[in-house]
Amino acid sequence: MSKQRRQGTVAVVGGAGAVGSTAAFALADSRLVGEVVLVDIDDERAVGEAMDLSHATPFTTPTDVRAGGYEDCWDADVVIVTAGASQAPDETRLDLLDRNAGIFADTIPEVTEGLDDDAVLLIVTNPVDVLTQVAWSVSDLPAGRVIGSGTVLDTARFRHALGREFDLDPADIGAYVIGEHGDSEVLVWSGATVGGVPFGQYCAQTGVGDAEALRTRVDDEVRNAAYEIIDRKGRTNYGVARSVATIVERILGDGRGVLTVSTPVSGHHAISREVFVSLPCVVGSGGVRDVLEFDLSSAERDALADSAAVVRRSVDRLSV
Ligand code: 2OP
Repeated sequence: MSKQRRQGTVAVVGGAGAVGSTAAFALADSRLVGEVVLVDIDDERAVGEAMDLSHATPFTTPTDVRAGGYEDCWDADVVIVTAGASQAPDETRLDLLDRNAGIFADTIPEVTEGLDDDAVLLIVTNPVDVLTQVAWSVSDLPAGRVIGSGTVLDTARFRHALGREFDLDPADIGAYVIGEHGDSEVLVWSGATVGGVPFGQYCAQTGVGDAEALRTRVDDEVRNAAYEIIDRKGRTNYGVARSVATIVERILGDGRGVLTVSTPVSGHHAISREVFVSLPCVVGSGGVRDVLEFDLSSAERDALADSAAVVRRSVDRLSV
């Protein structure tokens, strides 16, 4: 390889699936990833995906992409888990729980058995909050090193929708989705800003006709985005894959970005029993470095407690 070799090995368990292989494509395009290893129960498909992906790398960056086994996870800096069933058009994420918890019972011990002490485990499989808690309880890793992709994607959907409504770059929208990555998620309207201007004030300044109608429309769009996509194409992969690549980039480059990843929460807002849900977290080397404290309206605070309770009930059902 003549170009300068980059650092960082990322293993993708479920790497031959739609989300895993699309995440691998995004990672292979990243400046920070030296090697991507695809691990999948369908070995042949993993080899095929790795061959295809490696043929894209001469156009961009010199990432090595190959297929491997669970033992390849043990040397990785980040192990992404996308393995498992995905939603059919008539299913919620929580409907996948029994099937995917069974897959996790077999898979996670194989992944974590020889995992490096410094590695970060990034869970993407749905229902992601519950399964991140399962993975954490199975592994001996400290909490900050077991992360769920959580509502990073929902936050992107929120910013995208507001950017479109206001005809602005989504990068200038400050808005977060917290709680469960699922039907009970909470869009934090009270803290939403447009170029630093509070949402309500921005609407008043710019003469947005009916701010309340806009709010209802966007809330509905973000919460139901996955259903709308799955109804039409059978799955989602690009948005979640780019979210995953962004989380990995923050970890490998110690980027200290604020991302709404799923992390164990207790004592924040009205959440009393520890549960994995998303809050804005500082993500850098080693995973979650800090969970941010911030104000919520009383309705948002109640909604967050309800959302955490939805996840907690599923965790309790699995006796994790
Ligand atoms: C998504 O939100 C299905 O969780 C996946 O795209």
